[in-house]
Amino acid sequence: MSTIIVTGGAGFIGSNFIYYLLKNHPDDRIVCIDCLTYAGNLSTLQAALENTNFVFYKTNICDRAGVDSIFEKEHPDIVVNFAAESHVDRSIEHPEVFLQTNILGTQVLMDACRKYGIKRYHQVSTDEVYGDLPLDRPDLLFTEETPIHTSSPYSASKAAADLLVLAYHRTYQLPVSISRCSNNYGPYHFPEKLIPLMIVNALHDKPLPVYGEGKNVRDWLYVEDHCRAIDLIVRNGREGEVYNIGGHNEMANIDIVKLICDILGKPHSLIRFVKDRKGHDMRYAIDPSKIHKELGWLPETKFADGLQKTVQWYLTHQDWWEPILSGEYKLYYQKMYGDR
Ligand code: NAD
Ligand code: DAU
Repeated sequence: MSTIIVTGGAGFIGSNFIYYLLKNHPDDRIVCIDCLTYAGNLSTLQAALENTNFVFYKTNICDRAGVDSIFEKEHPDIVVNFAAESHVDRSIEHPEVFLQTNILGTQVLMDACRKYGIKRYHQVSTDEVYGDLPLDRPDLLFTEETPIHTSSPYSASKAAADLLVLAYHRTYQLPVSISRCSNNYGPYHFPEKLIPLMIVNALHDKPLPVYGEGKNVRDWLYVEDHCRAIDLIVRNGREGEVYNIGGHNEMANIDIVKLICDILGKPHSLIRFVKDRKGHDMRYAIDPSKIHKELGWLPETKFADGLQKTVQWYLTHQDWWEPILSGEYKLYYQKMYGDR
């Protein structure tokens, strides 16, 4: 029986991870730390809050005193850090908060781990730290040895945090691990990101804004497969190691948007090609052989099934995403897509 701190647990992947833990490790105590930014949603954790093995703290990971007091009270064995500013487009508009949360927040958490002692600190990182790959070299994939080469303030902040995590391992022998995953999709995905944005817009018969020519490629993984991989790394992965996570599922953006239209029975004429993202990464592709060989991990959900399930989830959970579309999101959407 372990006590596990999950930061960023009111967001997309963190909440899915909490539900994964509650289902697969019912004896563990789960402590969620989340300051509920625009991307955090307490209603996502409604079912978890009914479980006596789950507790929620509304705290910013940059708040050293707040974080320390949670560690002092809860005595965690494991810390899994999902808390981050996660959207590339927002990082291009406002880099500062990305540096604060993603780098300094990571430092505050690791300092608390040193002070109070833990068995494992796990940093949830991203394949974006490797930069991008060309479209015409399908033989090239990101391995754990691929040099760090970032494109956006978001990816630079995640890479900086990764280096800090490895430095805390070498300098202070903090028992750390890092995972670098490709693009996730599934339930509770905030509708600023490609797949949920296209589903929600299509349902409203609104234009579907595809950046550039839509040829950029991402390597999509169903969120539950990511959660299972992190759980394996945290319990059985080697200290001080980086593990790439991905399911060999490369898709061009335009093909995904067309698939979503087809599943929903909406016309492709909703698609609009709009001004490209600045510094837009062309292609991501993960080589997951290390985690497969060492920990036996393989993805379980095929993309066609996962996308169907995801679309169904958005169709049956309008009460989750409709409230998000008003307020801050409305202003963001207008600014980002208004004259694009
Ligand atoms: P998200 O934006 O959906 O959720 C982030 C959560 O962190 C929110 O609940 C937010 O309130 C919380 N948060 C933000 N700043 C905080 C702070 N200062 N203190 C406390 N809580 C804070 O993000 P996501 O898509 O679930 O991503 C989670 C993690 O996984 C991130 O670290 C991201 O870099 C990484 N990642 C995401 C993907 C993906 O495809 N979404 C892929 C690989 C890695
Ligand atoms: O690869 C992992 C990363 O995946 C994570 O680290 C990030 O946190 C996560 O946000 C995601 O980053 P991307 O930039 O790849 O995801 P996003 O959903 O923003 O965009 C996916 C692709 O779709 C990208 O090529 C940009 C394009 N796009 C996106 C939006 C929001 C569009 O064409 N139109 C859009 O409106």
